[in-house]
Amino acid sequence: MARADIGVYGLGVMGRALALNLAEQGFDVAVTNREHSWIADVVTEAGPLAGRLHPQIGLADFVAGLKTPRVVLFMIPSGAPMESMIEAITPLLEAGDTIIDGGNANFHDTRRRAAALALQDLQYVGMGVSGGEAGARHGPSLMVGGTARAWRRLEPMLTAIAAKYQGVPCVAHLGPDGAGHFVKTVHNGVEYADMQMIAEAYGVMRFGLGMSAAEIAGQFEAWDKGPLRSYLTEITGALLRYEAAGEPFVDLIRDVAGQKGTGRWTVIEALHLGQSASLIEAAVGARSWSSQAQLRARLARRYGAARGAVSVSLEQIGDALMAGRLLAYVQGFHLLGQAAQDYGWPLDFARIAQIWRAGCIIRAAVLDEIATAFEQSRGDGQLLDAPAIVAQLRAALPGLRAVAGAALGAGHPAPALVSAVSFFDTLRIERGTANILQAQRDFFGRHGFERLDQTGQHHGPWWD
Ligand code: 6PG
Repeated sequence: MARADIGVYGLGVMGRALALNLAEQGFDVAVTNREHSWIADVVTEAGPLAGRLHPQIGLADFVAGLKTPRVVLFMIPSGAPMESMIEAITPLLEAGDTIIDGGNANFHDTRRRAAALALQDLQYVGMGVSGGEAGARHGPSLMVGGTARAWRRLEPMLTAIAAKYQGVPCVAHLGPDGAGHFVKTVHNGVEYADMQMIAEAYGVMRFGLGMSAAEIAGQFEAWDKGPLRSYLTEITGALLRYEAAGEPFVDLIRDVAGQKGTGRWTVIEALHLGQSASLIEAAVGARSWSSQAQLRARLARRYGAARGAVSVSLEQIGDALMAGRLLAYVQGFHLLGQAAQDYGWPLDFARIAQIWRAGCIIRAAVLDEIATAFEQSRGDGQLLDAPAIVAQLRAALPGLRAVAGAALGAGHPAPALVSAVSFFDTLRIERGTANILQAQRDFFGRHGFERLDQTGQHHGPWWD
């Protein structure tokens, strides 16, 4: 009998948390998984919610147990596994049914799949889900891309399970096909940048100011009570408190960072769109270079130790983090603006900032101000022009410059903070130095240039 409002395929950490969240909100959820043993585990974990879960072993029974038009949420790796599941489930579905990919998918795949399935009148929704396990279980931020028809069907369920910021659900229909997955990709790019700048600030405090991990924890806890309040500020304070045998636990963790690819995609897409996400690239690059552990060890011996003492205040470091965070958002939203134009997506930047205010990894106090700034602006995605942001940046920039400068001077790697300063300086110079690039291009390749005093294309006197 078709009883379930939605089917969740894939009961890993995120899938099971979303299934339980849906059940808690009163929805009947069919659940299944490739490894069958996981299915019973979820039902056991559900406790009093078990009555709302409908475990199924076979794919045909799983689909048959769904109310029509059917909704199937896949929480599985988004590459080849998603591809083969689409192939397997499509013959079992009917016109009007919806498949949701809730993984961190490449939005190009989402666009291609949405177009292919539309030919069979099937709805394909790419949904970015942020917030880790706790978010998925108790309220994630959800970035939805798909048709208006699919959204109408999904809205009640997704609104119910999403995080709420002062009562406003952190879920939105952002546009068709790949819009949701693209916005999630940019979210992750900003996540990488914010994490990296926090790590750089930690480095300056620990090795440049000689603070202990516990003292730094205290500083992050203090920052989390002010304008820097954010999930990443909070967890950094918390994780620095842990000890093992009286030593900071973080000292036991290898300094080699993992990455699943979404930060890299942000940079790749920025370049595809003819834009630059330099701050995010600095963060992606820092993770990549961190993996060269042996090379780093060898070069540390060859060149000698760096990381001297710095003289910056904690207030300046806080300002550096604030300015850096704002500039990461500036780059992220600029990228969203360009994608909206190129792909014809009606992206609502204020709404995106709003749904990032709770539930997701980059949730931060400043997002509320960013949302307001977009509401008040013409919506062109240019945060740097918005009065509230201008005031904040003006106040925080001297700190960013001081910290980036001190890090450079004393040999502390701070690629994201340094990149943030350079990015800002590039944009606030009315007359830059691209005239020299143009002259060089013309000198060696007759590429031509525009002149300030005449119209049209010109060549330099070097060709006379
Ligand atoms: C989120 C996160 C999440 C991401 C992890 C790991 O919004 O909940 O972005 O989706 O997968 O943070 O990402 P990396 O392995 O690339 O660091």
